[in-house]
Order: sequence, then structure tokens, then C-alpha cells
Amino acid sequence: MGLVIKDLKVSLMKSEILHGISLDVKDGELVSLLGASGCGKSTLLKAIAGLTETDGGIIEIDGSVVNETAPEKRGSVIVFQDLRLFPHMDVGNNIAFPMRLRKMSVRDIENKVKSLLHDVHLDGFERRQISEISGGQMQRVALARAIAAQPKLLLLDEPFSGLDEELRIEMEKLVAGLHKKMEITTVLVTHDKREALYMSDRVALMDCGNILQYDTPHNIYYNPNSKKTAEYFGRVNYIKGNIKSGIFTSNSGIWKTKPGDISDDTIEDGEYEALVRPHNIGIIKDGGRYVVKSISFMGEFEEISIDTGDKTVFIIATGGYCLSNSISIGNYAGISIEAGMVKFLKADILK
Ligand SMILES: Nc1ncnc2c1ncn2[C@@H]1O[C@H](COP(=O)(O)OP(=O)(O)O)[C@@H](O)[C@H]1O
Ligand SMILES: [Mg+2]
Repeated sequence: MGLVIKDLKVSLMKSEILHGISLDVKDGELVSLLGASGCGKSTLLKAIAGLTETDGGIIEIDGSVVNETAPEKRGSVIVFQDLRLFPHMDVGNNIAFPMRLRKMSVRDIENKVKSLLHDVHLDGFERRQISEISGGQMQRVALARAIAAQPKLLLLDEPFSGLDEELRIEMEKLVAGLHKKMEITTVLVTHDKREALYMSDRVALMDCGNILQYDTPHNIYYNPNSKKTAEYFGRVNYIKGNIKSGIFTSNSGIWKTKPGDISDDTIEDGEYEALVRPHNIGIIKDGGRYVVKSISFMGEFEEISIDTGDKTVFIIATGGYCLSNSISIGNYAGISIEAGMVKFLKADILK
């Protein structure tokens, strides 16, 4: 059942912020809302939770339309970045709070608090005051409290963005693990593409109150439906050319449109741009006709730019690749494009 949103519109201060969002999240799925600051991610999450009025459209949670349902009756729980823990209660009482509201027995609550604290790796923290725990620990308490409410839908609004990198990765792993174990339908707001790709079953990329593409991490990265989506996930090379009977011809060469010896003759003939990620291009040292323009070493990887005459092609190689292969600026080189890692975008739909 999960969550279904159809043509959702939201205005704030008389200006339309969400312009007709449609999204379906399957039961037990973890979906990310990804996008730049201000694109409407939090507004969408608040609308789902019932904390923002909607102008039109339908929100369905677990098969029931909830547009007119009070926030606390929707079966959703939202965790904000600022967590909103109860400062006057200890850790145990914070987590127990939603269970008390549900009138669970004292004994059951005690057991559940223990097991939730174990799940979030905070065994024995029941009687600690909120002021006596670290930021990362507070996040785990907020997560445990949210899960204690047994939500049908867990809404997380950038819960990790205040953490340093190490803690953040630890929290991501914890949430991914808990999600796998408990299978709570989850919508995670983030502006971190790495986090969205790593955590999610599907990613909804948002831009100015619209969803640009909603797809699996692999598809949204390698099969973008627009340049905007492609570029959101990092640098892209575009190579102009045309396709005839499954063969792509450009100034940079002639390739089959499918890996290996296969050409995809279901691709319509016409003008295209081949979209290639920098790490799917190799550099061939000998016999090339292009010129190495720059090599930027960045540790784990290095970025090489190559002048092909009509454009610059960017390549990402393992850090130190050029030095160990005696490739220097000014050398002649060729390029090789990894078969199957190219997306052909039709010229007339390019934005
Ligand atoms: N209470 C509000 N009143 C008016 N405009 C708002 C309000 N909250 C957010 N906005 C505007 O709505 C847009 C989307 O905001 P938000 O949903 O918070 O974006 P995100 O979470 O993606 O950063 C922004 O342009 C923001 O300025
Ligand atoms: Mg936000």
C-alpha cells in the first residue's frame, strides 16, 4: 500500500511552491527526495505529514486518503534535522512517550525501550539526560522515538546533515540496516546525492517544486531523461552525433549503440548527444590524435582533460594513473569509451 501522491499542489504566502507532484512509494520502500536547497523537499514532507495545507491533489497513506486527516492520525512520523527531543525528559522517557500515548503497559514499554535502545546502539542509556549525550546519540534517540510510534510511514528531513562525515556514514548505515530489518515505508529528504544513491530503493530528483525524474539509483545516474538530471549527479561529457540503424557516428568516432558487437536498432535514427560519465572514458597513451590539456591529481582519483579539437573531454582515472603511465600535459593520446555506459539523448528533447 505505502504512499501515493497525485498532482499535489502547495502554496506558501500565496506563491505556489509545489506544482503538481506525483509520487508513489511502495510498502516497505525507502525513497529519497533529493534536490538543491529551496526546491520544496521539506514542504512536500510536511504536506505528507499534514503539517502544511495543500491546494490540490491527493495524499494516500496505506490505502486511505489523508488530505483531511489530522497529522497525528495519519500514521506518519516525521524526524526533523533539529530533532525536537523533549529536553526535560531522559532518553528512556523520550522513547517511551509515543508508547504511553498508545497506552501500552508499563512492562511492555520498558521492554520496548530496551530493545529500541539496542537497535540504535545505545544500550544502557535509559536514564541519561538529553543534555548529557552527544549530537550523534541524540539523533539515534530521535530515530528510536520515531520507530517507537510504529509508524506506517517514516519521514526523515535531512536528519544527518548536521553530523560530521564519519558519524553521518555511521547513521546512514544504521538507518539502512533498521529499514531493512523493520521494512518501514520511509521517505528521506536529502541534498546529498551520494546519500540518496546509497540509501534508497528509488530517488525522486526535485527541482523548483517539480520532480525531474523518479527512478532507481542506477537508472537516475546512468539513464537520465534530461541533461539537468544528468548534471545534478556530476560532470558529464556530451558528444554530438547521429544514429543510423543502431550505429552512432560522431567526430570522435563510430560506435555501436549497444555493448560489444551488438547495435540497438530499436533506437530511432536521428540526431543525438551521447552522454558519457568521465570515469567511463579511458585514456589511450599511444597513437592518439588528441592533446592532454590538464591533469588534476586529487588523491583517490585524478581528472584529465583532453582537447579533441572541437571540444574538451573530461576523464576520471585512478589517482596517480598518469604519473605511473608516463602521461604528461602536452602528450598526444586517444580515448576509449566503455561500452554500455553511454546514454543517447535525442537532440530534439534536449533541455
Ligand atoms: N513558511 C513559509 N512561507 C513562505 N515560503 C516558504 C515557507 N517555507 C518555505 N518557503 C519557501 O518554499 C520554498 C521551498 O522550501 P523548502 O520546502 O523548505 O525547500 P527545501 O527543503 O528543498 O530546502 C523555498 O523557496 C522557501 O523559501
Ligand atoms: Mg528542507
